[in-house]
Amino acid sequence: MAFDFDYFSPTKVVFGRGAEKRIGELIREFGGSRVLIHYGGKSAVKSGLIDRIKEALDKDGIGHAELGGVVPNPRLSLVYEGINLCREKNIDFILAVGGGSVIDSSKAIGYGLANEGDVWDLFRHVKEAEGCCPVGVVLTIAAAGSETSDSCVITKEDENRKRAYGSNLSRPKFAVMNPELTMTLPDYQTQAGCADIMMHTMERYFTSGGNMELTDAISEGLLRVVMKNAEILHNDPMNYDARAEIMWAGSLSHNTLTGCGNDGGDFSSHMMEHEMGGMFDVTHGAGLTAIWPSWARYCMDSCLERFVKFAQNVMGVSEIGSDRETAEQGIRRMEEFYHRIGMPVNMTELGIAPTDEQIQVMAEETIKAAGGSQGSAKVLNTEDIIKIYHMAK
Ligand code: NZQ
Ligand code: ZN
Repeated sequence: MAFDFDYFSPTKVVFGRGAEKRIGELIREFGGSRVLIHYGGKSAVKSGLIDRIKEALDKDGIGHAELGGVVPNPRLSLVYEGINLCREKNIDFILAVGGGSVIDSSKAIGYGLANEGDVWDLFRHVKEAEGCCPVGVVLTIAAAGSETSDSCVITKEDENRKRAYGSNLSRPKFAVMNPELTMTLPDYQTQAGCADIMMHTMERYFTSGGNMELTDAISEGLLRVVMKNAEILHNDPMNYDARAEIMWAGSLSHNTLTGCGNDGGDFSSHMMEHEMGGMFDVTHGAGLTAIWPSWARYCMDSCLERFVKFAQNVMGVSEIGSDRETAEQGIRRMEEFYHRIGMPVNMTELGIAPTDEQIQVMAEETIKAAGGSQGSAKVLNTEDIIKIYHMAK
């Protein structure tokens, strides 16, 4: 049965070689006149991208300030710094040049500018946003899907808390996507990105809620395409076509298209990863692959039909066996795929070893962040999550 849904994906996508040259025109189209260029550690400076963007804005007579230094698992302290800088410089548009971390930091600054009080209150879910300063994106890594998503994930570093806030208000006005800009990525980041892209669709695929045949077909196709091209990039990182496939998949995977007609998704692996990210600062996509196989084995009996369909239509399992055997074979093949692209399938391989106390805290915080219980494929409580973390050790 298909559930009712709203589909709202307003971001203008400008895709292809040299797309970033149109940046001035795009900012003007969406009403920007004084821009904060927000970016990460070094890659966008080293590649010359930031200089090219500044030149393009100068040519179009658009004023700009800049703030670099966003790190993966972006920090609240830099968000505060960005809000103050934007107020001081009268900024009316934020240009994120980077990946999910830079985009999310930009969205959070945008919220901070448009709402009274402490922006962290949104992430604590004690108030709702009433506005967001407009954000545009030049994407340099295909992964988080934040360039078209409504989500924003920030880490409050003094409390080791990584929290998400979602609102259509923060969906970027435009996303410039030139696959060539991702060619400087280390393989590990490319593959962690592919894993995250897949997980945004898998989290929506494994539900016990409604489903649509069309959504399933889109999801299964997307997953097969990402797996194929992730392996191509593992061996041939400069392959433009593979980069293009992955980049477009990243946006479609998380703009809610692959959730249309189901109950919105499970997202337990994400919620558990966010706690691992907050506590151990792990790479998001790798944290997901470290937890997913354990989540899948723990939950598959509650959603067996979906796991069988996944095994057959995505992982190519054709042997005749019981439904459980087919489902298990699908999970095993996904682990083999993760290993082929250099991703971990448990926390040891990820390089972390949480203590029992740390697992307890992460499980409690997962449930707290979820507001009581978590999941759709199987509804999880704190005890369930503790078991899954232990399975994933
Ligand atoms: O800082 P620089 O030097 O740019 O290095 C970055 C960073 O170290 C590097 N990088 C990016 N583009 C590059 C490059 N290196 C070389 N060449 C390039 N072209 O890649 C590293 C990772 O960057 P990051 O932005 O952290 O990656 P990603 O896009 O995976 O974002 C991860 C963050 O997004 C959140 C995650 O939790 C994590 O905090 N998520 C956001 C979501 C959303 N807003 O919708 C959904 C996701 O599920 C996710 O939770
Ligand atoms: Zn993700």
